[in-house]
Amino acid sequence: MDQRPIGVFDSGVGGLTVVREIMEQLPDEEIIYFGDTARVPYGSKSKETVTKYSKQIIRFLMTKNIKAIIIACNTASSNSLEEVQKTFDIPIIGVVEPGALMASSITKNNRVGIIGTEATIRSQSYENAIKKHNKDIQTFSLSCPLFVPLAEEGWTNNEVAYLVAKKYLEHFHAKEIDTLVLGCTHYPLLKDVIQEVIGENVCLINPALEVAKELKELLLLRDGLRHPSQSPRHSFYVSDNTTKFEQIAAIALKKSIPHAIKIDIERY
Ligand code: DGL
Repeated sequence: MDQRPIGVFDSGVGGLTVVREIMEQLPDEEIIYFGDTARVPYGSKSKETVTKYSKQIIRFLMTKNIKAIIIACNTASSNSLEEVQKTFDIPIIGVVEPGALMASSITKNNRVGIIGTEATIRSQSYENAIKKHNKDIQTFSLSCPLFVPLAEEGWTNNEVAYLVAKKYLEHFHAKEIDTLVLGCTHYPLLKDVIQEVIGENVCLINPALEVAKELKELLLLRDGLRHPSQSPRHSFYVSDNTTKFEQIAAIALKKSIPHAIKIDIERY
């Protein structure tokens, strides 16, 4: 048993879609979340910048006596996972490998679409990871940067979100994909609109499901699950704008959260 919390981070509210899944599958675990609301979006930034941000956040989370870290951000997982795993002496799980595993086991016609930020798509992390599981799978990728500000704004199910999704997802019309990876943790917040536009026949992959499963396996292996004697007290930290974050968090997690605390991440 290990009572220490799990550290989870993202550029903003997107990682809450991963928190939701961890809370579902591991309800006794305590979570310390950091959303980099001052520096979102990460998707348009370079590998070097995203890696610098990831290291600062991990240094901050490590001051909270955590037992593992989930990079709940595809952009940071795609661009920085290897480097931070080498740098820090703590188990760190990214979201790309679990998402790729899910996609390759679910596709039936071996035609998989991937949507993500510019930096995730540019890194080809999903293509490489999917091909590692099955080299016969054909992938079709597209960056959808406008989905991130829509999610941060809470515009996840209105006519603007619908029009943006329609314009982007036209890209997949003739591709005959049967599976679409939501390769950015902000995108599951727009899941309903994306599903409506792409059609019922395409299975949407939310890597968070597999990430939570992988975390559970890791904790079981290390005898690191938290004893359920006391209910977990989660904490939320941001680098800017607490009110907006709390509002979106309440929607994403379907319950209100304790007040988010603003910190100066540049100090770490
Ligand atoms: N939610 C993040 C991801 O999964 C980053 C979005 C962004 O900041 O551009 O890629």
